Amino acid sequence: MSGPIVLGIETSCDETGVAVVEGSVVRSSVLGSQVDLHARFGGVVPEVAARAHVEAIRPLVHQALTAAGIHSDQLDAVAATRGPGLAGALMVGFGFGKALAWSLRKPFYGIDHMEGHLFAPRLEFPDYEPPAVVLLASGGHSQIVHVARWGVYETLGRTIDDAAGEAFDKLARFLGLGYPGGPAIDRESEGGDPDAIRFPRALADRPFDFSFSGLKTAVVTFLEKAKREGTLPSRADVAASIQEAIVDVLVDKTFNAVEATGVDAVGGGGGVLANRRLRTRLAEEAERRGVRLFVPAPRLCTDNGAMIAAVAVQRIEAGVPPTPWPEDVDPGLSLG
Ligand code: KG4
Ligand code: ZN
Repeated sequence: MSGPIVLGIETSCDETGVAVVEGSVVRSSVLGSQVDLHARFGGVVPEVAARAHVEAIRPLVHQALTAAGIHSDQLDAVAATRGPGLAGALMVGFGFGKALAWSLRKPFYGIDHMEGHLFAPRLEFPDYEPPAVVLLASGGHSQIVHVARWGVYETLGRTIDDAAGEAFDKLARFLGLGYPGGPAIDRESEGGDPDAIRFPRALADRPFDFSFSGLKTAVVTFLEKAKREGTLPSRADVAASIQEAIVDVLVDKTFNAVEATGVDAVGGGGGVLANRRLRTRLAEEAERRGVRLFVPAPRLCTDNGAMIAAVAVQRIEAGVPPTPWPEDVDPGLSLG
């Protein structure tokens, strides 16, 4: 009764994620982080990422199977991220997963990375079911999706420029907080006042869309002026105010979508959903409106293999045929 056993592989960016999921239970989940490799460049270098995935993938698959106490023969399927992401990085996990499935004579599922984020809450909340509105915010994408049922997605709104995670990363670099920026701003904000500086909230006239590129200009202009006038606030106050500006918009627009669709369930996925202020604000707003909130633990919000396996589990249970063998990665894949 526990459901299919799937090995999930995620290599769309700078984390090699491998997991074994049985039904909705994560039997093992291992991660090979490349953060140290990319930190000195201040961002992810595609060629460096692909090469690091090549080195990490085989031992991590072995480690995931061992930790789960599963022999590869017992797998019902192998799944890997097909896109969106860095082409070279995607090819490593997708190619490895496909070859493994082929050699084991098991079905192979190529999975949309953002659908993985959308499914991650299922691994923690058995009652997370559509219809729902889901906020997806990562380093490359930010969107609000209406899920009518699994597999049927309508993107209600998205960023018209930078992704939310990208905004965190760029602004952290500007403040000298290093890479990756999201966790750094999250930490720095701890001692800061979120209301110290009122940075602009863009696109107030578009209920579900985001724009974050103007925020950086606003922060730069503000700090230059403050420096000239000798009124420079603390870095913690600046970080907390930046975080608040991003979080405000994400929360507002998510609940605009909840109101417009009339759903009573809100999900969240993607690295930015690891942000503590965002998690608190979403919880407060959900409570106030009497809707159910499904945001999983931070380790399931950031990239991981379990979320990829979770989508494949649902595909198998719904009788969806596997990905045809000739299919390749699609770096520009887009949900809905
Ligand atoms: O989903 P993810 O792990 O990888 C992509 O698919 O891009 O998201 C990574 C993004 C990065 O931009 C990172 O700075 C951001 O998520 N992030 C955070 C936090 N943890 C990761 N942003 C804000 N607060 C955090 N605690
Ligand atoms: Zn992601």
